[in-house]
Amino acid sequence: MQVEVAKSAGFCFGVNRAVTMVKDLLQKGRQVCTLGPIIHNPQTLAEMEQMGASVVDRPEQAPVGSTLVIRSHGVSRQVRERIAQLPVQCADATCPFVAKIHRIVAQQGREGRTVLVAGNPNHPEVQGILGYCTGPAYVFRSTKELQNLLESGQVPQETAVSAAAQTTFSVAEWRNCLKILNRVYTNIKIFDTICNATVSRQAEAEQLAHTCDAMIVLGGRQSSNTAKLYDVCKKYTKTFFAQSAADLPRGAFAGMHHVGITAGASTPASIIKEVLVTMAEINEGVNSSPETADGGDN
Ligand code: F3S
Repeated sequence: MQVEVAKSAGFCFGVNRAVTMVKDLLQKGRQVCTLGPIIHNPQTLAEMEQMGASVVDRPEQAPVGSTLVIRSHGVSRQVRERIAQLPVQCADATCPFVAKIHRIVAQQGREGRTVLVAGNPNHPEVQGILGYCTGPAYVFRSTKELQNLLESGQVPQETAVSAAAQTTFSVAEWRNCLKILNRVYTNIKIFDTICNATVSRQAEAEQLAHTCDAMIVLGGRQSSNTAKLYDVCKKYTKTFFAQSAADLPRGAFAGMHHVGITAGASTPASIIKEVLVTMAEINEGVNSSPETADGGDN
């Protein structure tokens, strides 16, 4: 059995930058709090906790004198202003690709345009983006939700509309949404804000899934970009989701010739290595046991 890892699997630039920032601060002896988990990866979070970092849900929970880290998802302008009032230092790990969306939506609102955001309204990145909107703004998660929004009459055809996407939105879904938007709004301004790391990761996952008997998608359960990768892969082949090697369905690969691995933006290289070691064991028939995992899904 050939096991092939997607070249784009694992930490993206923005997550790597955020994790490095936290580690650097800890090494300098600072008391570090992150506003929400810095990444969607339990192992890395545990490692950081061991190094002394803690997680707070609200800025006001950060101890006096501590350094509060804004994670790569970014936060709204309102949250940033709350942090500025507190007796803490702020370290900003907002991914530059997310910060760019903040600037875009703020500017579009100032120009009197209504902003439509393709993304998950419950995701912190989208909540942060909405917090930078200076005029009317609406979020939709899919073509279906977009159609519902258009039919609701809240954004009439003659509205000056600008559209942007969450950085980890599905590339295929975004294209479908744009077809609809372009038909309805003749003067629409479109900002392709899905980040390059997401585009190449989804494209590579799709290519690999086409050629493999099965795909393993590694990442955290809360990770939006990992969930998108899972959706992409399962369209083409049997797909297993795993947070770590312990989740691998050892019995499920019998008779397979080619298994692909991809991983979300917050999956450390150590997890990918661990999974490769386990797959090599499975390949050699070592430690083989009945299927234990999370099960697959086509
Ligand atoms: Fe940034 Fe894209 Fe990663 S927006 S945090 S580089 S997934």
